[in-house]
Amino acid sequence: MSPHSRVRLRGHFAPPGDKSIGHRLVLLGAIADGRTRIEGFPPGADCGRTVDLVRSLGVEAEQQDATLEIEGVGLDGLRAPEQDLDAGNSGSTARMACGYLAPQPFESRIIGDESLSQRPIDRVVKPLAAMGASIETSGGRLPLTIHGGRELHGIDYELPIPSAQVKTALLLAGLRATGTTRVRETFPSRDHTEIALCGFGAEPVIEDGVVSLRRVARLSAGHFRVPGDFSSAAFFLTAAAFLPDSDLVVENVGLNPTRAALLDVLLDMGADIQVEPHETHDGEEPIGNIHVRGRELHGAVVRADKLPAMIDEVPILAVAAAFADGTTRVEGASELRVKESDRLAAIVEGLGALGADVATTPDGFVVKGGRQLSPATLRTYGDHRMVMAWAIASLGVDGDCTIDHLDQVKISYPGFWETLDYLAG
Ligand code: S3P
Repeated sequence: MSPHSRVRLRGHFAPPGDKSIGHRLVLLGAIADGRTRIEGFPPGADCGRTVDLVRSLGVEAEQQDATLEIEGVGLDGLRAPEQDLDAGNSGSTARMACGYLAPQPFESRIIGDESLSQRPIDRVVKPLAAMGASIETSGGRLPLTIHGGRELHGIDYELPIPSAQVKTALLLAGLRATGTTRVRETFPSRDHTEIALCGFGAEPVIEDGVVSLRRVARLSAGHFRVPGDFSSAAFFLTAAAFLPDSDLVVENVGLNPTRAALLDVLLDMGADIQVEPHETHDGEEPIGNIHVRGRELHGAVVRADKLPAMIDEVPILAVAAAFADGTTRVEGASELRVKESDRLAAIVEGLGALGADVATTPDGFVVKGGRQLSPATLRTYGDHRMVMAWAIASLGVDGDCTIDHLDQVKISYPGFWETLDYLAG
């Protein structure tokens, strides 16, 4: 079924810098020797939380437009914070900070907003405790207190769930732990930390799903250009894939295969997508342009092994599935229950409100496309990615939808509404 709407997306745009990469470059730049320059720094509030966090630890960071410069204080140079470290809505900031701060010789306390305070943090606290860290949580959630001053030692840890945030927390702690820290993954999660560590002169070894890192003597500052955020681009490129007569070029977007599995799924659904990679050097984040033309899509099955490389793209995939012909099944997606909202519940509720045939499964959902969708009130639970997914869904519906928390796009994509206006003409 083609969407019942004449809206189409046409033109070129460059998404904002990648949020995931931004967090890592700030944290590592702050403890490197020398001044790190980051171009294309992500404008969203989440990365701002990580910048504020390192500032509270005595690090100077200056931002001009999209360029951030950080005066690294070296591995031993962070100072005790004078107040609580507020991660806001940012799970990455809170979880990575646990590993970052656990080996420091001072105490620190991390707090977050209402949504973040309900999300599990023990997934990082438990393995860090096995490394010798002392972290006191509020029943496995924020606020938490890190009692620093412990000597950490490397561990060999198999991730029970694929999570790049947990892997990153352990590797950040491993930079200062005795011996070797090893993290094993069954399905590869995003590898931005491994790439960034190499950029700062550390030498993680990556072999057969295992990342090993030895304690380092120092990190050296560098110059980085952050690729466009694939997860932000995903909203527009998916919309262009299913809105007939669309013709869209996404410029300078990250193409790291541990992030871009949505492209494989859209191609499976019959999308017309051409990827044009730019030339990059070994050890750099892959980047390129993506050209999408709109056409009718059909359903696809997304299995658990694909999920880690498209974990943040499931809401927008669900929207595409509702406009596609036939059945789409998403498996292995239980982690969506503990994102900025319970995204499985939000997806099923919202698509149901639009009149789609959708049902929850034990670890995901099934959408039978082909129904005519009609205007509805769509609840986002204050989750930035649900706001953007519902904005795209409403483009395919004839009539006005009501969406709440529109300004939450500030978390990852402050320019989302302007870009939407521009591309939809
Ligand atoms: C992220 C990893 C993912 C993702 C989040 C960012 C990261 O979380 O959902 O938006 O930057 O490492 P998990 O590690 O919890 O899967």
